[in-house]
Amino acid sequence: MSNEGLNSVNNILTDVVKDQVKESAQAGNHHHMISDEVKGTSQDPSPNLVRPISIAALIFGAIVAILLAMQPQIDPYTQTVLSLTGDAANGRSIFVMNCADCHGQWAGGKVGPSLHSVSGRLSRVEMIHQVVSGETPPMPMFQPKPQEMADLLKYLEKL
Ligand code: HEC
Repeated sequence: MSNEGLNSVNNILTDVVKDQVKESAQAGNHHHMISDEVKGTSQDPSPNLVRPISIAALIFGAIVAILLAMQPQIDPYTQTVLSLTGDAANGRSIFVMNCADCHGQWAGGKVGPSLHSVSGRLSRVEMIHQVVSGETPPMPMFQPKPQEMADLLKYLEKL
């Protein structure tokens, strides 16, 4: 979950706790409060409203947090790769050296699947993730420099 999301949940929880503390303080100082009310000096909102407002705020905060968490979080490496212009010919050389043993000389598939039209199945972010994550053995985790990854990406997009 993003920090912003956590912070907003945190703020809302803090507010709710403050409201609860205020409420119990009011309960404890009942006589005091009544005398304040008699004097007409009480600034407190109606206690009947405090709890529904806290709950509404909590639900609203939770929804905001979920929406924030659903935003794709793009890491700095991926952002850098996406900002670069790839060179497909260089990507081809990198592919032959690192990927062709498994995916075939022309990416038609071997140990690994065919990569033809792979950019129609996977987004650019997903293709980068596939190469650098190592999440699907036996495909290893590669650590290309951002420019090399941009070149490879350009090549993959032409398959
Ligand atoms: C040791 C063999 C191996 C090597 C080397 C390898 N791969 Fe893979 N690759 C695989 C296998 C196996 C899969 C299928 C993984 C799965 O989804 O379970 C795969 C999946 C992929 C996919 C996803 C295909 C799809 O349709 O979802 C991409 C993209 C890919 N590899 C790119 C590369 C690139 C680029 C390189 C070189 C930098 C590379 N692979 C090197 C074995 C390999």
